[in-house]
Amino acid sequence: MHLAKLRLRDFRNYRRLDMMFDPGFHLLLGNNAQGKTNILESIYLLATLRSFRGVGAAQMIRHEQAGFFVGAEIVGVQSDVIKYYWSLRDRRLTLNQDPVKRLSDFFGTLRSVVFCTEDLQLVKGAPRIRRRFMDLLLSQTQPAYLGNLQQYAKVLRSRNAILKQHRPDQDVLDSFTRELVHYGQALIEARKQFVPRLSPLARLSYRRISDDAEEFMMVYHPTVQGDFREELDRVKVRERQYRSTLVGPHRDDLKLLLNNQSAAQFGSEGQKRSLAISLKVAQAEYLTGLFGHPPVLLIDDVMGELDLARRGGLMPLLERSHHASGQVFMTCTEENWPKELGRRLIRWKVDQGSIQHAD
Ligand SMILES: Nc1ncnc2c1ncn2[C@@H]1O[C@H](COP(=O)(O)OP(=O)(O)OP(=O)(O)O)[C@@H](O)[C@H]1O
Ligand SMILES: [Mg+2]
Repeated sequence: MHLAKLRLRDFRNYRRLDMMFDPGFHLLLGNNAQGKTNILESIYLLATLRSFRGVGAAQMIRHEQAGFFVGAEIVGVQSDVIKYYWSLRDRRLTLNQDPVKRLSDFFGTLRSVVFCTEDLQLVKGAPRIRRRFMDLLLSQTQPAYLGNLQQYAKVLRSRNAILKQHRPDQDVLDSFTRELVHYGQALIEARKQFVPRLSPLARLSYRRISDDAEEFMMVYHPTVQGDFREELDRVKVRERQYRSTLVGPHRDDLKLLLNNQSAAQFGSEGQKRSLAISLKVAQAEYLTGLFGHPPVLLIDDVMGELDLARRGGLMPLLERSHHASGQVFMTCTEENWPKELGRRLIRWKVDQGSIQHAD
């Protein structure tokens, strides 16, 4: 699949943008603060309805405007048109003119993987960030997962609200517990099967990128080891004390280990950065394996920051994308443009919210 058309209205510093893109390797060149990353952000938004900068939609509205619009035509086996309008008052998402009722019908229309400086948080940050990484990939690949996740979150909120009451009604609590166990067990099962599939891809890519002798392991770390219901029962008294649900998928982690030690605690900065990129490479390869076609790759600056050896580790992914007529968007400034990419580039000049061919 590739992004054939992109339309932006009042998105970040773009008042109005209408672009057509072929498959291939697109290089977005420009000075700082011209709108390079904003383009990647808009493409990622079309794939996930989120910003990879970890901000809410309101921030993406061009200053002093009421709302933004992002639209795209995605060409794959079929052709799909996405339209997304967002303002504080009104949100409209359509796929081929029809309003999207269930997000699981939407995810997968455009699949993309982003490489950006924020990725470092996957290694250094709180477990929540790694859960989101798992959840996003599972939601993009298993239609039932997203529904279970949304239901779980809803039941969890209700259950925690009950636990906060002075004297919780036991019957109500029990009924929420039953639902929590039902959805939670499905999430745990999906994560359990998924992590061992992703792990070898991440290991291989870490070896390529880092060129170091340490063994990288990725291990799913659920808070519930055995039966979810029994575990909830076991922590019943503590739950009342803390007035919230203490075990379950919402507390899980994905442990990243180098030679069996926590990478976050003991890894060097370079190792952490290589690990973060390996996770993203693994994500891209997982999607490629599953769907037989590479996702759209969005690479924000990171290539420029990496030394030659680490960049080399990314090349196999880029080559594969090239051979499969995939699509890559990469931003950089004129100075840190990795010249070894050399051939076959489609170059664009980004300048104050406008984009021109630069060949
Ligand atoms: N909501 C917004 N409305 C209008 N302009 C915005 C908004 N958000 C960001 N900008 C502007 O967008 C520009 C930054 O765009 P972007 O982050 O894409 O830059 P960049 O080209 O990637 O730069 P760098 O090379 O420094 O990463 C800045 O000029 C900023 O002021
Ligand atoms: Mg940028």
